[in-house]
Amino acid sequence: MIDNIRVLISEEQIKERIDELAKQISKDYEGKSVHLVCILKGSVFFSCDLAKRITVPVTMDFMSVSSYGDEKVSSGRVRIVKDLDESIQDKDVLIIEDIIDSGRTLAYLKELLSSRMPESLNICTLLDKPERRVVEVDVKYVGFEIPDEFVVGYGLDYQQKYRNLPYIGVV
Ligand code: IMP
Ligand code: MG
Repeated sequence: MIDNIRVLISEEQIKERIDELAKQISKDYEGKSVHLVCILKGSVFFSCDLAKRITVPVTMDFMSVSSYGDEKVSSGRVRIVKDLDESIQDKDVLIIEDIIDSGRTLAYLKELLSSRMPESLNICTLLDKPERRVVEVDVKYVGFEIPDEFVVGYGLDYQQKYRNLPYIGVV
């Protein structure tokens, strides 16, 4: 245990769930290729592990948005820190996020990316805190629903720390 972090979802549980998600995604996108839009930095661990298990052709691009700063509460504003490198026009796009909390980030991203004319646009999030939702967002793939607690690990940070923990924990 590091700095009093309690394990909420173990490394093993994450692996198993990612296997299931990858199977479902591979089935849903059969005959197509899927363009993963990974939201930096939180979703990098999840994106890489998921991408390795998807069996249809995969391309990846990265985008960085900022909504929180280093605080635990959302500022409500979303800013693009780094935009995508490639056009998503006519692609089957799957946004990969670490967690959906208020829903503001994903609602904003979905609107922005859908204006760029993708063939399809869906969302996959590792974690979902449904109790915290302020803005409705349609999320196709959810790894785990979790209670309203601040979590770290497996990409998620608190003040940029703990991203490298192999499990999801509560600070
Ligand atoms: P939303 O816009 O409120 O849905 O916030 C989504 C973003 O807030 C995520 O991409 C995370 O970066 C951050 N976030 C929300 N809850 C947590 C948490 O429990 N731990 C770490 N980051 C979080
Ligand atoms: Mg994030």
